[in-house]
Amino acid sequence: MADLKNMTSEEAKEVHLTLVDTIRKHDESYYREDDPAIPDAEYDELRKQLLELEARFPELVTPDSPSQSLGVAPAKGFGKVKHKVSMLSLDNAFSNDELREFEGRIRRFLGLGPAEEVAFFAEPKIDGLSASLRYKKGRFIQGATRGDGKVGEDITANLRGVTDLPLEFAGAKAPPPDLFEIRGEVYMSKADFLELNKAQAESGGKIFANPRNAAAGSLRQLDHSITASRKLSFFAYAWGEASSVPGQTQAEVLAAFKNWGFSVNPLSEVCANMEEAIDAYRKIEELRAELDYDIDGVVFKVNRLEWQSRLGFVSRSPRWAIAHKFPAERATTIIEDIEIQVGRTGALTPVARLHPVTVGGVVVSNATLHNEDEIIRKDIRIGDTVVVQRAGDVIPQVVEVNLEKRPKDSAPYEFPTRCPICGSHAVKEVNETTGKEDAVRRCTGGLICRAQAVERLKHFISRNALDIEGLGAKLIESFYQDGLIKTPADIFTLEKRDAEPGNLQRIKNREGFGEKATRNLFDAIDDKREVPLDRFVYALGIRHIGQGNARLLARNYLSFDKLRSSLSDTSDNAGDAYAELLDIDGIGAAVADAVTEFFREDRNQEMLDDLLAEVTVTDFDPPAQDSAVAGKTVVFTGTLELMTRQEMKAKAEGLGAKVSGSISAKTDYLVAGANAGSKLKKAKELDVTVLNEQEWLDLISN
Ligand code: IVH
Repeated sequence: MADLKNMTSEEAKEVHLTLVDTIRKHDESYYREDDPAIPDAEYDELRKQLLELEARFPELVTPDSPSQSLGVAPAKGFGKVKHKVSMLSLDNAFSNDELREFEGRIRRFLGLGPAEEVAFFAEPKIDGLSASLRYKKGRFIQGATRGDGKVGEDITANLRGVTDLPLEFAGAKAPPPDLFEIRGEVYMSKADFLELNKAQAESGGKIFANPRNAAAGSLRQLDHSITASRKLSFFAYAWGEASSVPGQTQAEVLAAFKNWGFSVNPLSEVCANMEEAIDAYRKIEELRAELDYDIDGVVFKVNRLEWQSRLGFVSRSPRWAIAHKFPAERATTIIEDIEIQVGRTGALTPVARLHPVTVGGVVVSNATLHNEDEIIRKDIRIGDTVVVQRAGDVIPQVVEVNLEKRPKDSAPYEFPTRCPICGSHAVKEVNETTGKEDAVRRCTGGLICRAQAVERLKHFISRNALDIEGLGAKLIESFYQDGLIKTPADIFTLEKRDAEPGNLQRIKNREGFGEKATRNLFDAIDDKREVPLDRFVYALGIRHIGQGNARLLARNYLSFDKLRSSLSDTSDNAGDAYAELLDIDGIGAAVADAVTEFFREDRNQEMLDDLLAEVTVTDFDPPAQDSAVAGKTVVFTGTLELMTRQEMKAKAEGLGAKVSGSISAKTDYLVAGANAGSKLKKAKELDVTVLNEQEWLDLISN
């Protein structure tokens, strides 16, 4: 290779191209054809040159560079794939009654009469990782992980090695659709898992806790030859973007999947009604232990696709599907200590330190005790023998205390009234409307409390918030400790401060960093200098503002400027701005108060000023921009006959309209059903366009 030091970036680009090409060719003959064309040492030399070149010219590092797929751990991972149709998650039911309630909600939403039965398709809930596989004219072209549901990672190369993942649709009966995204679960069978761990133990490799972790670890290998060497399987159970759908029920579509050559789970079946579905759950649960793959529950889906599409989804889960998880696994152990953790909103959470015990194959040594009231209610004490349970990924919990085994000298646990981190008073708030004391004790230290500050930062960069690649909770913790990052804005000034002359704390000199990892971190941070409004609002970590409420606010205010100025102007919780907030369908008093409290706090305003000097918040992009009602405000009143109110509302919101509960000068349409009263009168006074149901449906169908 030419002299690196004197190379121009133009020259570097050319050398890089040649190197990448050569290495790819050798990879091909080595991994695919098992027939290396050059000695290993020569190959290693090529790779070394590539790494040196990329270290000198980091702009040449692309996700598909061979440097990213073999050898030293790469800092940048897979390419991103945007899911055109979001990958949803599922709501959970924990009892048969909750399943019946689920059916009730569906009936009410669709306005079904008592004679009409809702058939469900019951499928085992496979404990693996969901993936989306894109097929163009029946040929596999791309595969992706779920990611945050909107953007996943490109794992095409890794998926090629998965058994029962056809690279081409089978069955020539009908031509395959132009485009079809198959969705399902990648998993590892129990037998393959045991075999893998045995081999790993022999070679001194990583031992996996369960098949799911093994599948995840294997699938997310940047070196896809490793993935190929591990046995992964796939069950198809859903679909994303599709040019046409081969059937009118869930069962028909899955039958088509089977004809195309996919594995669909053999225990899945159509149930004529909810009682049959509950029976199906029992049957599957009985078979669970015999299966050669882990399942963690049963999923019920409305079988009729037309109903599925009318039901749509709320936030991140479809209204037409639910998962009934199997009861959690339990074990008995002793509480050795109770520690108090302080969260982002100042909540003091007691955590039981347990004598380690294996629950369902995982060693558990901590369990959450939730809050002070929970400890009092169950009278949980240090030294108690308790039953702990864990279900899936959730934090283990203490279910009951064995009083017979309680030590004679035990005393009730005394919950601290001061924050163990900053020493501020920790108090239980009294709810103004109910007059009841909160179950949770909170630290009053706000941002002076280190725990709250760190937890807020962790939330800020978490997956559903800013999601900065390579900047995780551990790193935030250590940057905070060293004074490098104390506020969200500090994340974005990190590079500038790092480069300041005389700085003795260079990041590249930290353990585990170096030039390249540092560059990658700064790039990943720069990638997030533009954030969508809903993510940004969620990232602020305001109490009660989860993803759903963040989206409601984003949809209503559309831009951060508008949201901030309106919400900062709510000094007495009485004016128009506060009324507008409360008027948002789905925002109640507790949420409204938390939001206004946040914006009234000077320290938060300062934090926002600093942060907005660094990042741009992009306006909310209402879905279906081109619909006639996008961005319009609509109020529904009176008795609706053509559709239930819930379905009307969901449809309107899906088209980008804002649904409000009361008429104001800002209302664009009042849709009046039978017996409309005061709202109709007010709409007429304010000259708001009044439509009947049919007129509204005509308007939105255009
Ligand atoms: S349906 C809209 N069906 O469970 C459809 N999911 O908790 C959403 N899963 O992310 C998924 N088995 O990874 C569906 N038979 C099944 C499933 C299943 C496992 C997983 C999937 C999903 C998660 C939701």
